Amino acid sequence: MLEFVFAKATLPKTGTIAVPLSEGAALTGLAAALDKALAGAIKRAVEAAAFTGKKGQSATILAPKPGYKKIVLLGCGEPDAFTPRAAEELGGAIAAALTKEPDATILSDGLDPAHTAHIALGARLRSYRFEKYRTTLKDDEKAKLTRLTLLSSDTAKSDAAYIPLAAIAEGVEFTRNVVTEPANILYPAEFADRIEGLKKLGLKIEVFDQKDLEKLGFGSMLAVSWGSAREPRMVVMQWLGASGAMTAEGKKSKKPKDPIAFIGKGVTFDTGGISIKPAAGMEDMKWDMAGAGTVAGLMAALAGRKAKVDAVGLVGLVENMPSGTAVRPGDVVKSYSGQTIEILNTDAEGRLVLADVLYYAQERFAPKYMVDLATLTGAIVVGLGHEYAGLFSNDDGLSEKLIAAGKATGEPLWRMPLAPPGELYDKNLNSDIADVKNIGGGRAGGSITAAQFLQRFVNAKPWAHLDIAGMAWASKDAPTVPKGASAFGVRLLDRFVAENFEAS
Ligand code: BES
Ligand code: MN
Ligand code: ZN
Repeated sequence: MLEFVFAKATLPKTGTIAVPLSEGAALTGLAAALDKALAGAIKRAVEAAAFTGKKGQSATILAPKPGYKKIVLLGCGEPDAFTPRAAEELGGAIAAALTKEPDATILSDGLDPAHTAHIALGARLRSYRFEKYRTTLKDDEKAKLTRLTLLSSDTAKSDAAYIPLAAIAEGVEFTRNVVTEPANILYPAEFADRIEGLKKLGLKIEVFDQKDLEKLGFGSMLAVSWGSAREPRMVVMQWLGASGAMTAEGKKSKKPKDPIAFIGKGVTFDTGGISIKPAAGMEDMKWDMAGAGTVAGLMAALAGRKAKVDAVGLVGLVENMPSGTAVRPGDVVKSYSGQTIEILNTDAEGRLVLADVLYYAQERFAPKYMVDLATLTGAIVVGLGHEYAGLFSNDDGLSEKLIAAGKATGEPLWRMPLAPPGELYDKNLNSDIADVKNIGGGRAGGSITAAQFLQRFVNAKPWAHLDIAGMAWASKDAPTVPKGASAFGVRLLDRFVAENFEAS
């Protein structure tokens, strides 16, 4: 674990030091003092490396004086553009540059003390590792960084700013852990158990097992699970941070009031079922539960920082397997909404899970807004690549809020088309023998068809669907996301809640 200390601004006499420098700015504060102590070594390095302070730039000075081990200069870009997000990216760059150092000090004395807390968050997010199954890691392959000291002009302010950020980081780490776990370890029941562990944060958690779901009539979600030896689960998480904390008639509310609902696709492994996927790359389908992982991590973040909001999180957890009991192409099932569904492709299973959970969420909680997350289609990766998640929504205001939160947190969304019921793409979902079929015509507009299918289970209430298939797993390092499970959506939705629903 990486430990962070916000400390008074005094120049360290030894060790490894990170020096953030703005574009075009002269050395000031402790950076100037360090340069003097090093007889101008920083200025000389800046010149020799043509270092301008541009974002992403770095230069290293080795052992410039006895006691000093490494001085790393890092570009912060234009001072005006140094947002909390830019501070996180800087923190990520520092963590990446210093993984092999046991400890280091960051000369952040000249920065806003709240930004300093965001540097810590960025460093923490970038330092995430999942090493529980590695038994032969050699010493020189291991990360060494255990302690970062961040100098602050106001340590109390930095400490206070870091408290909620640490809760968010814990949510992100929860998500990354469950998304990274292989499917033999993390199957629906195990996933539900891990979510139950979040009770300690004050979340109310209910787990529905196979029998419960049968009683409810979750015919759509259960059909996906037919072929699997693993039992399905639905988990409902409630955080009553507004009504439960405040008092209506002096009592704590037991039920969320006008909550925001988050719904996640939790397919712990997606073989495609009888419409089986090709072998190449099928291992990626262990992270087909990233939507659910994100919802759980988000709920952990909201509870961990005691967000002043009522929010509910619902996840449908199943495994999609081919077997003698698996659902067949052409089968017709009855969804929880009452609509019958003709399942023409058993690999279009995420929407079958979400159909029931979405409908249940709105019926039970009458949410003000519903947002679902799902690694729903390969087509969204074709359309948007790995830069944006797809946003589909029946509500412009909600879309704008989500897009703004995405920009601020570095988890960007691109809005895609969604037709009203009965129009355009929606018509392709009409089945010959049931109310709706689970795929459209062909491959054309595949992500949109999927969103249109979901919309058939939304009663015209404000709703957004985030197709995160291209974003849930990173194939290369990014400033605050090491290669692997990204937890895309946790920070975005935490921000969406903080900005729009927590009266401050
Ligand atoms: N889980 C997949 C989508 C996916 C693909 C996620 C690649 C992440 C990376 C989903 O269940 C699926 O199989 N979708 C099909 C839908 C098709 C059968 C209509 C697809 O995208 O091919
Ligand atoms: Mn599938
Ligand atoms: Zn899937």
